[in-house]
Amino acid sequence: MKKKHKSNISPVLVGLMGSGKSSIGRRLARHLDLPLIDLDDMIVERAGCAIPEIFAAHGEDAFREMETVALRDALGRQAVIATGGGIVMRAENLELLKQHPPVIWLKASPEFLANRIDGDANRPLIAAGDTLSKLQELARVRYPLYEECADYILPRGDMEKDEALEEILAFVQSWKDDISDQ
Ligand code: S3P
Repeated sequence: MKKKHKSNISPVLVGLMGSGKSSIGRRLARHLDLPLIDLDDMIVERAGCAIPEIFAAHGEDAFREMETVALRDALGRQAVIATGGGIVMRAENLELLKQHPPVIWLKASPEFLANRIDGDANRPLIAAGDTLSKLQELARVRYPLYEECADYILPRGDMEKDEALEEILAFVQSWKDDISDQ
């Protein structure tokens, strides 16, 4: 049984790239009257250059290190936290996420995502090769990891962002009710 915060909650959004973590996170933050912390933005700001440049100049491992540092800094703050799709790739991050519920997984199929992010030059992992195959490979590895840390799974499917937001808000409310009952 995970420990729940007694104070206001700080939802963390996880999921593959293109699943809407940043955009839904922005709306969720507005509704909950919380700031949004976007880990990718934090990393870019600290590095002083864009994500593809970080990957090109320093490699993925260096990016992952920066990501862990950003996650550590963000968790525990009163905010909605939007993570990058690869946040679950480090065991250390997965443990941190489990210690900071609620974690919300925006679950979307590779087919749904491929249409949305195909050709996006800001996402180095899909820069080379076929976007759909790459997403299928990422989903195979990451779905079990998202599932492992998620307190709530939102099946995005073709769901519009407004509907997705409604579902998440209902979950957040039930989580808060649950906490206040304890
Ligand atoms: C990545 C996803 C990206 C970004 C980086 C690596 C990944 O974030 O962190 O390009 O490993 O899936 P988004 O999920 O916000 O696109």
